[in-house]
Amino acid sequence: MQLVSVRVATMALSFLQELFLASSLLFLFIPLYRQFKFRSSKTNPALPTDWPVVGMLPSLIANIHDFHGYATALFAASGPGHSYEGHEFASFFDTMGGSFFNADGESWRRQRARVQHLMASPRLLAFMAGSCRDKVENGLMPALARAATARAPFDMQELLTRFAFDMTAMPVFGVDPGLLSVHMPPMDVPNAMDAVMEVGFFRHTVPISCWKLMRSLRIGPERKLAVAQPVLRRFVAEMLQKRAHENDGAHQLDIVSSYIDDPEYVGEDGEPKDFLYATIINYMFAGRDTVGTTLAWLLYNLTKHPHVVSNIRRELAPIVASRNSKSGMAVFDPDETKPLVYLSAALFESMRLHPPGPIERKAVLADDVLPSGHEVRAGDTVLISVYSMGRMERVWGEDCAEYRPERWVTEDGGTAALRHVPAHRFMPFNAGPRSCLGKDVSVAQMKSVVAAVVWNFDLEVVPGHVVEPKLSVVLQMKNGLVVTAARRGSDVADETAELCRGQQ
Ligand code: HEM
Repeated sequence: MQLVSVRVATMALSFLQELFLASSLLFLFIPLYRQFKFRSSKTNPALPTDWPVVGMLPSLIANIHDFHGYATALFAASGPGHSYEGHEFASFFDTMGGSFFNADGESWRRQRARVQHLMASPRLLAFMAGSCRDKVENGLMPALARAATARAPFDMQELLTRFAFDMTAMPVFGVDPGLLSVHMPPMDVPNAMDAVMEVGFFRHTVPISCWKLMRSLRIGPERKLAVAQPVLRRFVAEMLQKRAHENDGAHQLDIVSSYIDDPEYVGEDGEPKDFLYATIINYMFAGRDTVGTTLAWLLYNLTKHPHVVSNIRRELAPIVASRNSKSGMAVFDPDETKPLVYLSAALFESMRLHPPGPIERKAVLADDVLPSGHEVRAGDTVLISVYSMGRMERVWGEDCAEYRPERWVTEDGGTAALRHVPAHRFMPFNAGPRSCLGKDVSVAQMKSVVAAVVWNFDLEVVPGHVVEPKLSVVLQMKNGLVVTAARRGSDVADETAELCRGQQ
């Protein structure tokens, strides 16, 4: 299928880029890596040898292909680790300007309040739910049906990236960019977004002076970013034009509408300011990367655990059975899937093992002592490995490495309920004052998407395909998720009746 051939064509290039990134890491990681502190590294035999001069670098090099797994093993052996130094966090993601992910103080407070207000608007929420349903019904389901008919392997991660991109852009601009359509247009804009995230990761691993020098020389990963930034800006400009054209300037429900009359975002001449560009790009990152990546890992985990798929179908069966028409493909509204406990459990369990943002980074404002006993000083940076936290035996128990949605299900007055896990234990949506503002809406959407995929299709990972994370601040799959899809047959109606009977 087309998706696969595009991937094969780009693989050689991405191999060279990865090679460059890896070799840059070898030479540039030393100064940062030597600042990592792991408790009693000299005396703990479970930790790699701490060599003079190069520290644990040799073992890092040997494990660079599995950076997150390596960090998890170190934390498990040593107790919480930390790194400290004074970085300018905002500069790592300069593409996002001073917008909400990158802002602090009064500006952040104002921006957060504004997004919070928007996310509470019933009209916007209804618009988002409608956009999601529309994209599932008219984009994702037909694409999967075509792949199933062709019986050819395809990259599910790419399909979900296209899906999440459109689904995020539609409420932002009120216009569908059409990345998931019959023609499957080029992935220039999502690729540019990937570059921002990969370079963001790279900048975390090298001294600031190194990447700034590379940026001014436009070499290595920095060159990739210099190419990506204008692509993103052009996309936003085109979508704003399309929005004005298609809607004839009329009042709309989209997110841009709530910024367009604000002089902080749009000049007197009606031209969008850099701040509006940055804010829109922030929204695109907030929704596309997180949702697309979460869905890909969830579907991957489901392919490995068929009994979880059966349990989800059992939960969906009464919804389908209650409908008048049982023909065609079933799609689900977020409101319908909201109460489904096991489906939530399957989603959260996948996010525990595969958080889309594997690293959380915070700067210290004032000297303090962390609950772990680590002292931190104003200006220090604290790195939290959300990925490792989801795999800690002392947090999740002996079976922490297993994908087991049942751990999330509890009983409440004789009915199944979702177990409450505090945000500081389960951090994919962050915890505290900077926690995610899109959590509820995205959980509801992702549940309805997975419900439709699982109900209508059987997916199988192509034998021999290696699924592993790439080095980025977003936990995308390095080689994609190459699967085959089979449409569930006409016996689904009988099976539905059977599943419903099984629940009585
Ligand atoms: C799978 C879905 C999602 C996940 C896992 C997720 C995760 C996160 C995380 C970890 C943060 C904290 C970032 C930081 O400060 O380090 C965050 C912040 C945020 N998220 Fe989400 N997010 C998701 C979807 C969404 C969606 C769909 C939106 C909607 C527009 C959204 C809006 C936001 C906003 C506005 C913030 C900034 C909060 C602040 O800095 O005060 N998120 N999200």
